[in-house]
Amino acid sequence: MTARIVDPAVFGRVAVAMGGWSAEREISLRGGTAVLAALRRRGVDAHGVDLERGNVAMLAQFDRVFVALHGRGGEDGVIQGWLEAQHIPYTGSGVLGSAVAMDKLRTKRLWVGDGLPTPVFVPLRGEADFAGAVKEVGLPMIVKPVGEGSSIGMSKVARAEDLPAAWSEAARYDREVFAERWIAGAEYTASILDGVVLPLIRLETPRVFYDYEAKYTEGLTEHVCPADIPDEIKELCLDYALRAHRILGCKGTSRTDFRWDDEQGADGLYVLETNTQPGMTPLSLVPEQARQLGISYEELVEIIVREAL
Ligand SMILES: Nc1ncnc2c1ncn2[C@@H]1O[C@H](COP(=O)(O)OP(=O)(O)O)[C@@H](O)[C@H]1O
Ligand SMILES: [Mg+2]
Repeated sequence: MTARIVDPAVFGRVAVAMGGWSAEREISLRGGTAVLAALRRRGVDAHGVDLERGNVAMLAQFDRVFVALHGRGGEDGVIQGWLEAQHIPYTGSGVLGSAVAMDKLRTKRLWVGDGLPTPVFVPLRGEADFAGAVKEVGLPMIVKPVGEGSSIGMSKVARAEDLPAAWSEAARYDREVFAERWIAGAEYTASILDGVVLPLIRLETPRVFYDYEAKYTEGLTEHVCPADIPDEIKELCLDYALRAHRILGCKGTSRTDFRWDDEQGADGLYVLETNTQPGMTPLSLVPEQARQLGISYEELVEIIVREAL
């Protein structure tokens, strides 16, 4: 897949919407800045908009919007709904796909309904659910807020007595929290770009899990691409990533995260979550996966902005 050469003038004035008001604001600014520079190098009349709650209406001055936002407000269908109401074309998933994928709990319910393997989970509304969760999910488990990203508010719980603290931490970020079975083994990620599945990456981090530090500190996480695993598992990941994207109603680019417990064979592969606004910083995974197919960062950004034509 290569970028078709288009006259950059067809895009008109393009806003790169970045920043926003979620916990992932800083990451979005980094990615958005890189996207903006790449669009300009391609000759597109692109302008950065550092989005805040009070200046969303600024986007109405543009012909289309490259959404480089993450988390609440930017990745959950809110800004997408506003853009729909204004008839402004934008990149990435629409209102429904964004909203569902942002909600890890409802995402998992949809996947279970469609037979995709995702780790056993239990909603944690409060203390009354703790004992039942330990029984059903087992230990170790991971406690997550339903709607954040970048591993924010998550912790691994090895002992039942640590569950209350993990719950409180997650509850700082979302009214809804859930516990999920901890899957041993390595982590993989597969992405969809323009209907095509990109090569699988294996992530290797010296930390307990792929947490915020691991994600954004240069050199802390090793990316192995293409991932060195049996073809059967690789094929399953790519197939699951496409199914996960479709079940959730995603469009454009998405990135689905997996864990594979190699001692369990194909039964040890689990889908964790789908990101509808995958990171676009120079360190991010989608740019690296695209590079494997010979797609430069500039071409990648051009392929994505074409979604908004
Ligand atoms: N069930 C699990 N078992 C083991 N590790 C997990 C599990 N769920 C998440 N993790 C770890 O936590 C990280 C973040 O979880 P994820 O669900 O991908 O949320 P997000 O990336 O949106 O913060 C993963 O990349 C992985 O390292
Ligand atoms: Mg993830």
